[in-house]
Amino acid sequence: MPSVRKDHLIIRIRHADIGKRVKAVAAQIAKDFKGERIHLIGVLKGACFFLADLAREINLECSIDFIAVASYGKTKESSGQVRMLKDLDQNIAGLNVILVEDILDTGLTASYLLRILKQRRPKTLRMAALLDKPSRRLKPVKGDYIGFTIPNEFVVGYGLDYAERYRNLKDVCVLEIPAP
Ligand code: IMP
Ligand code: MG
Repeated sequence: MPSVRKDHLIIRIRHADIGKRVKAVAAQIAKDFKGERIHLIGVLKGACFFLADLAREINLECSIDFIAVASYGKTKESSGQVRMLKDLDQNIAGLNVILVEDILDTGLTASYLLRILKQRRPKTLRMAALLDKPSRRLKPVKGDYIGFTIPNEFVVGYGLDYAERYRNLKDVCVLEIPAP
């Protein structure tokens, strides 16, 4: 008989606090690029909620694009390999590009993306991430705009998933999966 297992969610960062922090990060970006146009590149699918909220708080001329890579698949551990699933729609040469990620974990995804974006000659290239888990880093990537630094816990919500679930949670939650 199939047993019913329930994942355990603990709120780590409340929606209201995410909102306040997103505003602060947006204000910093607007200050750094005062009088200029910026181009946000969201990494699908995890960054879409963060990018949507961030973009609406940045008081500058702003365009957006998306890129998709395969990283975690259905498990909690990275395969260590990054593969592009969807490239950008637009050329980024001469633009002030900010790569927008949901979370900086090992840094493998971000270092791969920053490398290929740099080859396309943007005017400037920076990186924003809602969350940062510096203790997990395998590649020396540093985000220019970080929402929250968190310990080594697997989190879901506000775009982050576990096997495509929980992206639509308003809060960022720690996911504890019961042993079988
Ligand atoms: P990295 O390449 O190891 O830095 O991982 C980047 C990607 O792994 C993120 O964009 C997420 O999709 C996923 N990831 C890393 N940590 C977590 C987590 O705690 N929860 C959900 N997804 C995560
Ligand atoms: Mg993911």
